Amino acid sequence: MTVPLFDTSAPLVPLREELRAAIERVLDSGHYILGPEVQTFEREFAAYCGAAEAVGVANGTDAITIALRAMGVGRGDEVVVPSFTFYASAEAIPPTGATPVFCDIDPDTYCVTAETVKAALTPRTKAVIAVHLFGNIAPIAEIEALGVPVLEDAAQAAGSRICGDAVSADGSDGGAGERGGGTSERDGAPAASPQARPGALGTAATFSFFPSKNLGCFGDGGAITTSDPALAERVRVLRFHGSHDKVSYQEIGYNSRLDELQAAILRVELPHLDGWADGRRAAADYYAQAGLGELVQTPVATANAAPAWHLYVIAHNQPERLESALAGAGIGHKPYYRVPIHLQESMRAWGTGAQLPATEHAARTHLAIPMSPVLTREQAAEVTTVVHESLA
Ligand SMILES: Cc1ncc(COP(=O)(O)O)c(C=O)c1O
Repeated sequence: MTVPLFDTSAPLVPLREELRAAIERVLDSGHYILGPEVQTFEREFAAYCGAAEAVGVANGTDAITIALRAMGVGRGDEVVVPSFTFYASAEAIPPTGATPVFCDIDPDTYCVTAETVKAALTPRTKAVIAVHLFGNIAPIAEIEALGVPVLEDAAQAAGSRICGDAVSADGSDGGAGERGGGTSERDGAPAASPQARPGALGTAATFSFFPSKNLGCFGDGGAITTSDPALAERVRVLRFHGSHDKVSYQEIGYNSRLDELQAAILRVELPHLDGWADGRRAAADYYAQAGLGELVQTPVATANAAPAWHLYVIAHNQPERLESALAGAGIGHKPYYRVPIHLQESMRAWGTGAQLPATEHAARTHLAIPMSPVLTREQAAEVTTVVHESLA
């Protein structure tokens, strides 16, 4: 049984007619960029996240640069960012004029913590980028309590939620059913609103709608969410060349716009995001029930998080043994961040000398295995069997 690393097409099969109709609607409308579909999607996505505003942009990388600039980040400032994440989380900082300062992660959740961020703060720190890595939820409130604004990089976390009351001590999430199963809870932090989600936890948040993301369009796309109206307005100006009115130009901005086709597609998908997130959590449960956690390190949800696992990342001291067995069995797998960002050539000016032991351990040992909203119990059992055999 071959098992793909992810599956972007199967969840869309039941939506094909609706998607075709949405695409045709755009074709008929004659509006192709920043029109009514984008405006409506912005309203719908903001409401979904629980933020006052969402602003569509061209991709998740631009979203970070633009959000940081709207937060006042510029030349001479420092921005704290994890090194164990996709490269774009840090790549988006230098174009603002600021410098990245790398911080470590928690070895179990792969997210930054208040402690790891605190170790990287200096008087020049203007903002922190907290990445909700793999769909897990970084502890934003604890980081903001350090007195520094937080930008959530939620590119991988659309559909994740903080469930507080809804998560019981044994980690199940309150009778959500076979495919809506729970997730493991780390410790007993205070319960948060059942509605709280990435996108409404920090000063602002950024999303990517790259096709393989939890909420993916058919090209590039991204968004910034915030409940600060002045910040949202600055983002709108920056995404359109630094202009309010397309006549006068107040500052150097960007050409970074979401197009109507992508917005129309995202509007069809958004009502299904919670169901897909349930499917991702159920897949994690299938791995747990197959006994994967007894063979390798499996991901741990942060306190009160019900992650919509974007990637399912296991860890083992000899990942190459798993890699060759999975390859031989036709099972998708990928070591996404084998070289962490602070050790990348392009980051030498800022990464040299950073002491990030948990990051370097995670980089050496992690391996993503199949995860999707439609991963079956049988597929999870097959992956687990191959992992078991590779370690025998
Ligand atoms: C954590 C993280 N941040 C930022 C991005 C950048 O998003 P995009 O590819 O849409 O520019 C990604 C996308 O892979 C990501 O995973």
